[in-house]
Amino acid sequence: MRQSPVLPILQIVHRPGILDLSWGHPDPAVLPVAALRRATATVLERYGAEALTYGAERGPGPLIEWICTRLAHTDARAPEPTDVVITAGASQALDLLCTLCTTPGDTVLVESPTYHLAVRILRDHPLELVAIPADANGINIDMLETLLAQLARCGKRARMLYCVPTHHNPTGSCMSLERRRALATVAAEHGVLLVEDDVYRELSYDAPAPPSVWSIAPPGTVARIGSFSKSLAPGLRLGYLTSDALLTQRLIGSGLLDSGGGLNPFVALTVAEVCASGDFDATVAHLCATYRERRDALAGGLRDHLPPGCRFTVPGGGFFQWVELPEGIDAGALLPHAEQAGVAYLPGSRFYLNEPRHNTLRLAFSLYPPHQLIEAARRLGEAITAVA
Ligand SMILES: Cc1ncc(COP(=O)(O)O)c(C=O)c1O
Repeated sequence: MRQSPVLPILQIVHRPGILDLSWGHPDPAVLPVAALRRATATVLERYGAEALTYGAERGPGPLIEWICTRLAHTDARAPEPTDVVITAGASQALDLLCTLCTTPGDTVLVESPTYHLAVRILRDHPLELVAIPADANGINIDMLETLLAQLARCGKRARMLYCVPTHHNPTGSCMSLERRRALATVAAEHGVLLVEDDVYRELSYDAPAPPSVWSIAPPGTVARIGSFSKSLAPGLRLGYLTSDALLTQRLIGSGLLDSGGGLNPFVALTVAEVCASGDFDATVAHLCATYRERRDALAGGLRDHLPPGCRFTVPGGGFFQWVELPEGIDAGALLPHAEQAGVAYLPGSRFYLNEPRHNTLRLAFSLYPPHQLIEAARRLGEAITAVA
C-alpha cells in the first residue's frame, strides 16, 4: 500500500535557526486549551444534539448577548442583539460584506499601509481598490475628502472603506478620537460604508481602547468586525460583526447563512460558555500581561541594538512593532542579510496598496518569549549595521 503523504495541520512553517517575526500568530503556549476543553464538555452536556445541528442564522443567542454586554464595557456604546451577526472570523465577515454590499466594478477605499491579507480578501472580489494615505494617527481625512470629491467629479462614488483604527496592523498606531469622529462624519456624508476592523480591541496594554468608530458614527454607516482569534484562539475561526438591524438582516438573509444555518454554531456555543464561565476574562488578562511584557522586551532590544537613524513608536496594543530604517535602506533587500543573521520580518512594502515606503518593516512580538525577542532585535541591529 502506498504511504499517504503527511499533510500539515498548521499554517505556520518554522525555519530552523531563524527567529521569524514575520508571523502575526499567537504563541501556542498562551492558547486556552484547558478552558476550551471544559467549555466543550459543558456545551455537549447542556445542549446535547442541539449543539451539533444547524444553528440560528444570526448565531447563538448566548454568545450574541454576551458580546452586547462585553461591548457595553469595552466600547462607548453597546449594540442591540439585532445589530450583531456571528461570523467565521473577521476575514469571513469582510468577505461576506464584499459579497453582499458591493457590485462588480465598485470603488473600495483602503487605508495604506494596511493589513495585507484584508487586501487579498478584497482582491478576491472584482472591485477597484483605491489607496488613502494614512499617517501615525490613521487615515488622512483631508486626502480622503479630496479623493471623494475627485471620484464625484468622475461620476463615481466609493462604496466601502476598509480601515484598522485600533492597534493597527502593521503600524501599531491607534487613531485619535478626533480623527475617528471626522472619519465617521465624512463617511456618513458621502454614503460610504465604513468597514472598521476592530480585532485588537481586547489586546490593549496601557489604557482601554478608544471608542470604536461604529460606536460614535450614525447608525447604519459602519460595519465593525471583531474576532475571537486574538482574544482566545485563531483556530476557532470565530468573529462577529456589529452594524445596524438593516444590514445584519441582509447578512442573515444571505444564501450562505440560510443554507448553512449560522456560521460555526458549535464553536460559537462553546465560546459563549468560555465567556460565561469567566475563562474569557482570565484568558484576556493573561494575554495582555504576556504580550505587554513581550512588547516591552522587543522595544528594549530595539533601543539597545538598532543603529542610529532607525525609528519606532511603541504600540499601545495588538501584535506589531513597525520600524523605520534610515532612508536608503530597503527592508526587502535587507531581508536575506537579516535571515543570514537569524531573524526574519515582513518588509513594510507588503502593506502598501501603492507607493510603498521601502525603508519600513513589521515585527510581530506575539510568537516568541522576551529573551528571544531581545535576541531577534540584536540580530536585526547586526544586519542593518552590516548593510548601512
Ligand atoms: C487587522 C486584522 N484583521 C483581521 C485579522 C484576521 O482575523 P480573523 O482570524 O478573525 O479572520 C487579522 C489577523 O492577523 C488582523 O491583523
